[in-house]
Parts: sequence; structure tokens; C-alpha cells
Amino acid sequence: MFDRLIRRLFGYLVNGEHSPLAMTNKVVPDYTVVPDVERDRSPLEKAESILKRMTMDEKITMLGGFDMLSIHGNERLGLPPVTCSDASAGVRCFGRSTAFPVPVAMAATWNRDLLQRIGESIAEECRAKGISILLGPGVNICRVPTCGRNFEYLGEDPFLAAELVVPYIEGVQGRGVITTVKHFAGNNSEYDRHRMNSEIDERTLHEIYLPAFKAAVQKGRSRSVMCAYNPLNGTYCSENRMLLTEILRDTWGFDGFVISDWISLYSTAGPLKAGLDLEMPSGKYLNPDKIKPLLEQGVLNPEDIDRPVRNLLRVFFEMGIYDRPTKDHAFVEWGGAHSQLSLEGAREAVVLLKNEDRTLPLITSNVRKIAVLGRLAVDTTTCGGGSCCVKSWDKVNILDALRRAGEPDSNVVFVKSRKGSILDPETVRQADAVVVCAGYSATDECESYERSWKLPYGQDELIRNAARLNPHTIVVLISGGDVETESWLGHVPALLHGFFLGQHAGTAIAEVIFGRTNPSGKLPFTMARRWEDILATRFYVERPATFSLARIFGPQGIPGIRKIRTMRYGEQLMVGYRHFDTNRVAPQFPFGFGLSYTTFALSQPVLSSRILKKGESLTVTLTVTNTGQHRGAEVVQLYVSDRDAALPRPAKELKGFIKVHLDPGASATVSFTLSDEHLSYYDPCWHQWVAEPGEFMLLIGTSSRHILSEEAFILSGE
Ligand code: BGC
Repeated sequence: MFDRLIRRLFGYLVNGEHSPLAMTNKVVPDYTVVPDVERDRSPLEKAESILKRMTMDEKITMLGGFDMLSIHGNERLGLPPVTCSDASAGVRCFGRSTAFPVPVAMAATWNRDLLQRIGESIAEECRAKGISILLGPGVNICRVPTCGRNFEYLGEDPFLAAELVVPYIEGVQGRGVITTVKHFAGNNSEYDRHRMNSEIDERTLHEIYLPAFKAAVQKGRSRSVMCAYNPLNGTYCSENRMLLTEILRDTWGFDGFVISDWISLYSTAGPLKAGLDLEMPSGKYLNPDKIKPLLEQGVLNPEDIDRPVRNLLRVFFEMGIYDRPTKDHAFVEWGGAHSQLSLEGAREAVVLLKNEDRTLPLITSNVRKIAVLGRLAVDTTTCGGGSCCVKSWDKVNILDALRRAGEPDSNVVFVKSRKGSILDPETVRQADAVVVCAGYSATDECESYERSWKLPYGQDELIRNAARLNPHTIVVLISGGDVETESWLGHVPALLHGFFLGQHAGTAIAEVIFGRTNPSGKLPFTMARRWEDILATRFYVERPATFSLARIFGPQGIPGIRKIRTMRYGEQLMVGYRHFDTNRVAPQFPFGFGLSYTTFALSQPVLSSRILKKGESLTVTLTVTNTGQHRGAEVVQLYVSDRDAALPRPAKELKGFIKVHLDPGASATVSFTLSDEHLSYYDPCWHQWVAEPGEFMLLIGTSSRHILSEEAFILSGE
């Protein structure tokens, strides 16, 4: 009880959708300074020219932020300050902006083009407001469902996350705004995130937790990376040279800059030597008083200061940030086409998980009386809590959206409930359909702590009670991930996953319920039947959802104040469907799963060859046909299974997906191209990826468990 109160208060004040911080109306001033450099020089030459003229104090000052979200400029040399903003679901803290579906909901669309357009729109709002750095996207893998930040990431699969983060980055950076891919790395839990040492073996790190970062910097060319709060394998990420230099720069060729997470430094020389470039939100450790003595003692040398300053300047010049007015009024700060796009994203994200006896869609002419239950129907959560939370200005809750979507004479009634019991059972009994909205608010599911696995506040009981009174009970889940469903799923005929869908959450859900939108979302994570079915929970903290202010604030930025604890990623590669499918554990709903109001048929795939030679590629082609009555979309998924690897491998791994939108009766040809890169695994003996010759299977289907065809082929050693 006390726990809940504190969590609510904390969430309200600091993190929630209604938090005073989320509503902050920060304004970026219009700066008029012009950089004192020749315009036709390359970004590097410009950076060098500025660097040469900066005093040591000026350089050091640039290494620490100010005013929570800003990076120092240099008036003397004509450099304006640079402003950052969170992040992946829209611009936060700078007045009114468009609230898009949260990243895990974007991932549920499996639609690359949509993510690119959302990225473009968010960047346009940044440009209009004078923001040059977006503090996202986040790509930490969903390992355990209770992590309070899973909603902010792109699901459980490294390939899916890698494929989706690239177009998002291209969208944002294509509009001249820097992306900051985060939190690098091993930040897969919010439990005591400042002192939980993530112990991850080399292979697991490279196969599961790093691919999305790698794609973000190599394919997407994200110009910035944010390091995580936690230590990784014994060293804080902010001073982890293996991560920030050996992997990021030396192996992947990253040439942007690395930002700290907010208050994640614990020393001065360590981060600079490891490859960090900027301390945020202020120079607590990277300031003249701390750095100068280290320079005098020879612990640091001048290049340790020049390197990060050069990185910052070069990227700012490269992105045109120093060469344009702070704000671009050609772009809108919110609304208009962006609002439409937010609705489009929300529509495509909804996942229809269960639909017995065609309970959905509701036919308005038959369904006149609808009883709506659950506080989230009225206070519909549109984002998870924390720095990803964008206040929704034009929010429509589910109740109002259902009222708008129904016939004018239909009767949509909200029925109050308390701790799971229904206060007006008669209305529920007599309704033609019942909609129970259950899940989490932005203070329940939030950055800085973990949420419960079971629905809180007796909502599971509420669902069972509603279903007992009325068999036509539809559940809408509002959450950023997997939730315990086993205790009530059998009682209800229909279930939708409604995520946190941004400002149009209510409208999108109502449209799906009434069939105006045909659902096409697919789960970007597995839903388990039981907590213990998730292998990673065996290595997780006990009772992760217990709340503690000391755990949240205690050790930030203060070395040695509390002991580091280690969380071993003992499940290794067996994350999400890799575990369920390899170890033959039945999921509640598999990864990649989602129903539609129409049906699809997939033809037999045709392979361009049964032998793939190293360095060459193989094409797989098939036809998808909409065999039902409604326009809809299907996601064709391609998994690869290695039949005879020297090291144990998961039973299958996603290596391709294509979403197609089709009218009834229409067909589309889809084709996947595979190379040996798709077949390789990370060999810790060689410290590199290897594609081992031998037999592989191509598995094509519409979820990790719904495989429609299996085709064998050989990777030849030649
Ligand atoms: C979060 C970051 C965020 C930063 C700035 C931190 O608490 O971990 O993801 O970008 O705050 O708001």
C-alpha cells in the first residue's frame, strides 16, 4: 500500500504523463552567433580551426552540459549552445508537441517506412523548436517483462530492433537532427540501474544486446551514442573502454560522439580515457577544477581533451547545426500531418491476440449497449513514464473514442469498479458487449523502477468478474509489454494489446474494436504463460517491482557510496522466443503473432539456389494473397535455423520480415535476400562472427510458432 503511494507520488512528480516536468515549457532562444570559420572547409577542418583557437578552459567547459539539456557554445568563436531533447516518441519538455506511439508500439507495426516517417516528423518538430539532438532512439533488448523501460525500446529480438532503428535514425538525421542511440549497453533492467552490474558473456553480448547498436551506428550512422548507467562486466559503461572505444570506434568505425546518461559519471579520467565525449546534464566530473590538476599530473594529456571537443565540433558542423538559424519555422512544432501520422502508427500497432467466435469487430447495428470498465478507459495511458513520456495534448480516451465510433443512438456506459469488484453489475450483465481496459498508468510502468508482472489493482479480478457477468467481454491491454494473462485469458473471448499508443490511443483502439481499422500489429516480444517460463527471470532479482527511493536516487554519480551488485545474464542467448522455441516451452502468444479480420495465404517459397556460396546471396520469393473479405496487412517472417553448428544455437532466429497491405483477393510478391552474414554466429574463441558451412533451414511463417514452410539449403565452404 505504502509502496504504491510512494510510487504514485514519485511518478506524478518526476516521471508520469502528468508530471510537472513532462509539461515543462522550455524555450530555446534564437541565437544569432555565426561561427568564425571559412564556410567551404570540411567539417573536420572547421573543427580543427576552432579547436586551435580555444583556450583549455573553453574546451573543458564544452565537455559538460548546462541547464539540464544544453551543450555549451562559445560566443567568442561564434558557436551557439546546442540543445537536446528526449526523445523517441516525440519531443518532450519544449511545449506542445505530437505524442507518437511509444517505440515498442512502433516495433509492433513491423513497418520500416512508418518508423522512418515518424523519425522525420519528430525531427521536424525538433527543428521548429530549435532542438538539434534527439536523445533517442533506445534499443535495449526486452529481457524480462517487468523492466520499466521496455516500452521505450524495440522488443526482444536483435534483428527486429536493428532493422527498425535504422529507418528511424535515417528519418531523424535526414532532417538535420542528431540521433542518440541509447543506452549503451546492457541496460535491460530498471532495478537499481546505477549499481546493477550486467554480467554478460561475450557471445551473448554480440548476438543479443549489441546488434541494434551496431546497425544504428553502421547502417543508420547515428551521430551520437548515449552510454548506460550500469556497469557492464565490472566497469561502468561511462568508463568502459572496451565498449566505448574498442567495440564502438575500433571495430564498428563509429565517428560520432558519446554522451553520458544523465548523472552517470563516477570519475574524471576514466571516462575521458575510455572514449566518452560529453558529460550530461552538467560537468560534475568533466570541469576545469577536476581536469586541470590531472593534466598537470600527466594523468590526462591535452589530446584527451581535444579528442572529445573535436568530435563534438566536427559532428555539429557536419550536421549543419552551426551554420543554420537555431529554429526553422518552415517546420511545424506539433499537429497537422504529424498528428495524422501518430494515428496511423497507433492503428498499425494494435495487436489482436484473441478473437474467439468472431467477437470482434463489434457490428454497430447489433451492439447498442456497451459497458466499459477500468480506469484506463477514462485515463488512457498514452506513454510510459520517464524521459520518453510526451504529454498528449490532443488526447482522446478510449471511452470517448468508443462513444464517437458507435452509432449515434448507441449507449456506451462507463461502469465504476473498486479493487476488481464491479459497482453496477446489472449494466454489465445487460450490455451487448463489455470492454475492460486493463494495464498500467505512466506511473506504474516507468523509467527508474520495475513494474509488476501481474496486472495491478485487482484488474485481473475485474476481468474475471466482468466475464462472469457477460460472455461478450473484450479486454484491451494498456502496457509496454508482456503481462500475466493466464489467470483470466480463458474467461474472455477477445483480447487486444493496445500498448501506449500516443495521443490517438483511444481512437485507434475504438477503430479496431468497431472494425474501421483491421488490426495488423504483431508482437515484438513473446507473451509467457507463467513468470517462471521466462528463462531470464531465474537470473533476475527477486520481487523486482518493490519500490525504493534509495535505490532510485542513492548511488547516482557518487562512487563507492553503495556496493555494486551483479546481475548475471545466465540465460545467455535464450532470450524471448529463442528460449521458448529452443526449449519447447509453450508461450501464451508467440513472438511475431497477431490476428487480423481477414485471412492470408502464403505460397510455397522459391529459392534462387539450394547452395549459398560465401560472399554471394540467395533470394527467397513467395506470394502473399489476401483470401478474406477485408483489406488488411500481413507480416511475412523469415527465420533461419542452423542444423549442424559447432556451437549450440537457438532453434530459430529472425532474419527477414516484410509487411504487405492488400485488398481482398489481391496478391503481392515478396522476396528476401540472404547472405552468409544472416547465417553467422559470434564465436568467442575467435572474437568474431563466423558463418559456418553446413545445412540450414529457412522457416517462413507469420509468427515464430506459425511456420508455413521449411526449406533446406547449404552454405558452402568455398
Ligand atoms: C535517461 C535518458 C534520458 C535522460 C535525459 C535519463 O534519466 O536515462 O534516457 O535521455 O535522462 O532526460
